[in-house]
Amino acid sequence: MNLESLLHDRLAPAFAAVAGTPVDPAVRSSPHADLQSGAALALAGRLHRPPREIAAEVAATADLTGIAEVTVSGPGFLNLTVADGWIAAALDAIADDPRLGVPPVPDPKRIVIDYSSPNLAKEMHVGHLRSTIIGDSLARLLDWQGHDVHRVNHIGDWGTPFGMLLEHLAEAPAGTGHSLAGLTAFYRAARVRFDTDEDFRTRARLRVVALQNGDGPTRELWRRLVAQSEKAFLGVYDRLGVTLGAEHFAGESTYQDELAGIAAELAEKGLLTESDGALCAFPEGFTGRDGAPLPLIVRKSDGGFGYAATDLAALRHRVSDLGADELLYVVGSPQRIHFRMVFAVARAAGWLPATVSAEHIGFGSILGADGKMLKTRAGDTVRLSGLLDEADSRATDPALGIAAIKYADLSGDRRGDYVFDWDRMLASTGNTGPYLQFAYARICSISRRAEGAPGPIRITEPAERALALALMGFEPALTAAAGPREPHRIATYLYDLASTFSRFYEQCRVIDAEPETRSSRLALCELTARTLHTGMFLLGVEALDQI
Ligand code: ARG
Repeated sequence: MNLESLLHDRLAPAFAAVAGTPVDPAVRSSPHADLQSGAALALAGRLHRPPREIAAEVAATADLTGIAEVTVSGPGFLNLTVADGWIAAALDAIADDPRLGVPPVPDPKRIVIDYSSPNLAKEMHVGHLRSTIIGDSLARLLDWQGHDVHRVNHIGDWGTPFGMLLEHLAEAPAGTGHSLAGLTAFYRAARVRFDTDEDFRTRARLRVVALQNGDGPTRELWRRLVAQSEKAFLGVYDRLGVTLGAEHFAGESTYQDELAGIAAELAEKGLLTESDGALCAFPEGFTGRDGAPLPLIVRKSDGGFGYAATDLAALRHRVSDLGADELLYVVGSPQRIHFRMVFAVARAAGWLPATVSAEHIGFGSILGADGKMLKTRAGDTVRLSGLLDEADSRATDPALGIAAIKYADLSGDRRGDYVFDWDRMLASTGNTGPYLQFAYARICSISRRAEGAPGPIRITEPAERALALALMGFEPALTAAAGPREPHRIATYLYDLASTFSRFYEQCRVIDAEPETRSSRLALCELTARTLHTGMFLLGVEALDQI
C-alpha cells in the first residue's frame, strides 16, 4: 500500500482543475502532518495567485472522502491527515493478503544477476563477502517482486594462474592429493614456486597451453580443482544462508569456445585496434589520467583471451541465449570502469540492444579498525570461513552471528566502506541484526502468550496509529530499495518499524487488554511480525521465533 501515491492520485485531478494543466501534487511525508503537498507554492508564480488561495481551492475540489482530512497551513501547504478508520481498514486488507499488500510488479523482467563470483583455487575472502550478501539480497527482492531472476556465479576458473596451480598439483607426490584441502595454502605454495623457480615457471606456462588445447590429463586435474573449489564455495553459501547453488555456477571457462568469435566479430565491425601486439577496443569517452584513450584488452599480446573478452562473451550469452531484459553485476567499485567499458563495447557491437539495461552495482570495502582494508594481524587477507567461525564462537547462537555480519553489511549504503567491528555488529541495541532478531522473537512470544485471536484493527491510541502508519510503509520501502538496488533501505525501514513497535508496546497493553482491544492489538503484533519476517527474509537475515 502506498499512501503517498494514493493521495497523489486523489490530489492530481484537483490541482489540474485549478491550474488548467497537469501538476505533480508533490506529496511528501512531513513533521507537521501525515503527509504534505507543497505544490500550491510552486504554482503561485505561474498562476499569479496567492498560494494559500490555490491551496484552499484544491482542498475544496479534491475528493478525499473517507481517506484524509486536508487543511491549508503556513504559506500555502496542504496538510493531509489520514483518517483512522481508513488506516484500520487498509491494514485489515494487508493482513488478509499473503503478500502484505505488495502486488507483484505489473511488468516482470528477466533479470540476470551476476554475484559472488569468487576465484577458484583461492579460498573465498572477505572481498567476496559483500558481493555474495548484497547480490543475494537483491536477487531475493527482485524475485519476490515477481521478476524472473537468473542467478549467475561467474567464478574465475580459467586463465593463466591455472598453469601454476595445475602444474603444482600435477607435481604433488602421488597419492597425497595433498594440498587441495587447504586451498589457500595450496595457492600460496604454487605462487612461491612460480615466483622463485624459473623451470617451474616454464612448465606452468606449458600447462596453460595444455589446458587450452584440451590435453586429457591436464583437463582432469583442472576438473578436480574446480570440483574441490566449488564444494568449498557451496559450504560457505550454506553457512551464510545464501540462495546460490551448484546450478548457478557458470565460470569463465564456460565461454572459452566463444572468445575467438568475439574477437573476430569485433574486428569485422571495425572495433578492434592493435596496440603493442594486443587487440584492443577503445570505446569512446574513456581516457586515462594522461588523457590517452583507455584500451579494453580483448586479446592479449600472447594470443590469450582474458577477463574482458570473457565478460563480453558472457554478456552476449546472457542477452541472446538467456533473453535478459536487465543485466546486473554486483562487483566491487574498483571494477566500475571495466564494466562501463564492457557495456560500451557491447553496445557498439550490437550485443547489448537499447532495450536491455546493464548495471554495475558497485560497493565499497570492508575496513579494519585501523581504517585500512581488513587484514589479519599477520597482514594476510581474511579468510571468509575463518570469519564465519569467529561469528559462531562470538555469538550466543550461530544464527545470530551470521545474521549480524550480513545485517551490518546490508544496513549501510552499499557504496560506502565500513569498519568491521564485532562489538557493534553483535550489539542488541541500535540498527543491528541481533536487535531485529530480538524484536521479532519478542513479538512472537507476545502472540504465543496472549489469549484470543487477532481481530479487526481499531485505532484509538497515538502509538497504535504510529505503528499502523509504519506498517503501511512496507511496500514503499521495497519499491525504494529495488529501484536504485539499495538493500539498506529495507534495513532502515525494518529498524524503524521495530522501534515503532517497541514504543507501541511500551504504551499499549496487549495481553491484558479488553478482548476487543486485545484482538485489534494482536492483529497489529501479528502484522508487525510478518512484516519483519518478510523484510528480514528479503535481506537474507534469519528470523527466529524464539532465541
Ligand atoms: N572473479 C572476479 C573477481 O574476483 C569477479 C567477477 C565478477 N563478474 C564478472 N562478470 N566480471 O574480481
